[in-house]
Amino acid sequence: MLKRLGFLRGLLGGAEGDAPGRAAADEGPLPAPDTISDPDDEGGPAGSVAPAVERLIEAGVEDVSSGPAPEPSGALAAAEAATVSTTFADLGLSAQVLRALKDAGYAHPTPIQQEAVPLALKGRDLIGLAMTGTGKTAAFTIPIVERLAGGPARTRALILTPTRELCQQVEESFRKYGRHSGLKVVSVYGGVGYEPQTKALRGGVDVVVATPGRLLDHLEKQNVSFDRIEVLVLDEADRMLDMGFAPQISRIVAQVDRYRQTLLFSATMPPEVEALARKYLRKPVVVQVGRRSAAATTVQHYVYPCPRDKKTSLLAALIGEHKMDSVLVFTRTKHGADRVVRNLKRDGIDADALHADKTQGQRTKALADFKSGKTKVLVATDIAQRGLDISNITHVVNYDVPQQAEDYVHRIGRTGRAAKTGNAFTFMSADEIAMVRTIERVLGQPIPRISVPGYDFGT
Ligand SMILES: Nc1ncnc2c1ncn2[C@@H]1O[C@H](COP(=O)(O)OP(=O)(O)OP(=O)(O)O)[C@@H](O)[C@H]1O
Ligand SMILES: [Mg+2]
Repeated sequence: MLKRLGFLRGLLGGAEGDAPGRAAADEGPLPAPDTISDPDDEGGPAGSVAPAVERLIEAGVEDVSSGPAPEPSGALAAAEAATVSTTFADLGLSAQVLRALKDAGYAHPTPIQQEAVPLALKGRDLIGLAMTGTGKTAAFTIPIVERLAGGPARTRALILTPTRELCQQVEESFRKYGRHSGLKVVSVYGGVGYEPQTKALRGGVDVVVATPGRLLDHLEKQNVSFDRIEVLVLDEADRMLDMGFAPQISRIVAQVDRYRQTLLFSATMPPEVEALARKYLRKPVVVQVGRRSAAATTVQHYVYPCPRDKKTSLLAALIGEHKMDSVLVFTRTKHGADRVVRNLKRDGIDADALHADKTQGQRTKALADFKSGKTKVLVATDIAQRGLDISNITHVVNYDVPQQAEDYVHRIGRTGRAAKTGNAFTFMSADEIAMVRTIERVLGQPIPRISVPGYDFGT
């Protein structure tokens, strides 16, 4: 009970961050920023439906958004009441899936799972929108396992993700939720040899989890066919449909059975991208938990005004002062990430970099060392900003202000996941003030400023 209430409290607000404080020391000038880092190297059984949702569908209501989040206390009470009456068994799940969820230690479905799973089980197309760290992966994986388990052995589900690391993680989640289903799943992504993937695909799999670039290579070589795909998922859907990926997605979707079910999930969905997304969907239901593109309420976030050339020393000072156990730092460029790592090491702080110029072996090792706590500071580009679920991250630092407001939501959402709380600090130089204001407009909330003597502008 306590665990469940804790999880809900985390989902609905009440974060307790450590108090930001002052820092000291100074450093030499930083080189000018270089080009924006590339997108990731990949390219740029029917169950019962929750009665309330069923009524909405019958009434022809396509949007079951729960609207703006109420005040935390009210929301908490409402969600607790709903959770008391909703269990995974109420969602119409089979015994083997219930067993897998119990094995995972999940007591109750999260709000997005409560709303999306019954609709997906009914075969509906969905746009599922909910805050970072609230269990969207299980919301699309559980219905796929239910639909595929015990059925014909052929490739019936395809899940697309924007990065290799997220692809590996979704495959792991699939294995977790589908562990008693006997389904075969393979992940297909770039930077590693073709042969094992080719062998797995040609040997026959039920579910493919893939990044677009490598998947297109396999499709060209006819290593896999998608003409009988029943469920297509775009995780991080707004990213998958933006300009970097849209041409590849369009080529892949052209090879997928048009009578499939399509599920799109993300924490963010700009209206113009939703309009684009609809061409891939058939009478979709929009399932939205809380305000669209809201930042995780479990994260306390602050902006530190700081000249560009003092950002590294501010970072070193904050790492020392806040005793950051596990901090993910985002830079705009790959060179920038390497530079921050060098400078931190010079200050005696162990750090590693994760970006698209590293080999896949280096990327895998950097992430594994960070997850295990061996590396305390990981400095990454945008390839780490979406979807990654690393439970022990205590702090996220935007060394550079992200270029898009949605990126901000995803980046700070790498902490404060599954009821945990976290802190996010954004360093803002004078030329980044306008972008921070844009982010605040999209979030619908101001981000508190913290002025550190010796670092703030003009000091
Ligand atoms: N019903 C549940 N009860 C407890 N924990 C859960 C439940 N569902 C998912 N989780 C855990 O919550 C964490 C976050 O889940 P997940 O990665 O699916 O979030 P997400 O909504 O996809 O976030 P993002 O937008 O960042 O991708 C995971 O560690 C997962 O194991
Ligand atoms: Mg996710």
